[in-house]
Amino acid sequence: MKNTVSQQIEITKASESKIGQVDFENLNFGKIFTDHMFVCDYVDGEWKAPKIIPYGPMTLDPSARVFHYGQAVFEGMKAYKDDNGDTFLFRPDENFKRINKSAERLAIPEFPEEYFFDGLNTLLKLDEEWIKSGYGNSLYIRPFVIATQASVSASEADEYRFMIICSPAQSYYSGDVSVLVAEKFSRSANGGFGYAKAAGNYAGQFYPTKLAKEQGYQQVIWTDSNSHEYVEEAGTMNLFFRVNDTLLTAPVSDRILDGVTRKSLIAIAEKEGISVDVRPIKVSEIVEAANNGSLKEIFGAGTAAVVSPVKAFGYKGEHYEIEKQENSYASHFKKALMDIQYNKAEDTFGWRYKV
Ligand SMILES: Cc1ncc(COP(=O)(O)O)c(C=O)c1O
Repeated sequence: MKNTVSQQIEITKASESKIGQVDFENLNFGKIFTDHMFVCDYVDGEWKAPKIIPYGPMTLDPSARVFHYGQAVFEGMKAYKDDNGDTFLFRPDENFKRINKSAERLAIPEFPEEYFFDGLNTLLKLDEEWIKSGYGNSLYIRPFVIATQASVSASEADEYRFMIICSPAQSYYSGDVSVLVAEKFSRSANGGFGYAKAAGNYAGQFYPTKLAKEQGYQQVIWTDSNSHEYVEEAGTMNLFFRVNDTLLTAPVSDRILDGVTRKSLIAIAEKEGISVDVRPIKVSEIVEAANNGSLKEIFGAGTAAVVSPVKAFGYKGEHYEIEKQENSYASHFKKALMDIQYNKAEDTFGWRYKV
């Protein structure tokens, strides 16, 4: 990973910054974008010279394949500013590897590492003012690739666009969530592309999640597509279950996204001597643990909210409440991870990347 600003990116600066119009105290997640964006096109079998241009709408042919076949992958990562005004990314190499893993599964050409890191560093330096210091403030970064080739022919495209856009984010707490365990719908299947951050994986979740919301649940806990007996992950989070003092989480597979937060929490837990069991988890054992009082916590782990406690779950028409813990693992892990991200704790794992 390099962290120099590239000489090879052509930069067109925005004539005027929009930052003065932004109320940083009342940000709506993912609605406001910084002044610039990174763009790199794949044409004639190669990624052309990358550019940074003012953020704004762009023109694509209506037949561009992304609109018809959903050939698109993306990433989600954050930049954090410490109290000295230094900017950090958290394990960006993981996001870089994952976007190319996703791309490979969607038959999208691999994006060069140098362009990715040059693009990130240059863009973040240009839009540095948009990253506010203060615990919980961050800049959400969305790299993505779309098939731009004009043609409604159902095969992989010859032309693509790789972009990075950035949106300021605040620490948010939307309350502990209630989740519904999926009994019929599946998010992904064996041999499919659940492990990829592919646009279509999310589109397919909206309808079952809408039905769950009508029943008073905010998210769906996906189960394996064969038997619906094993818990997998939630909408944009991997899941942890605390049974007594042991943490359980499902192993990643071709159905489950290999989350950066998940693997970081496992590493922190192991270092702290908290027992972590990575194994297939039956819904029935979670129900049993809820009934006999050994289920202490459920929480989701993901870049957006870091750790999201679950206060209740629904399964087969029953509703199970989880009693709030005084010293929860969820709040402990959230703090441990954020302290590393905001340069407040020693980075013993080497996860921080200074921009
Ligand atoms: C389906 C899914 N699972 C899990 C996660 C959590 O992954 P990460 O911790 O890398 O953000 C995400 C978010 O990226 C996701 O979309």
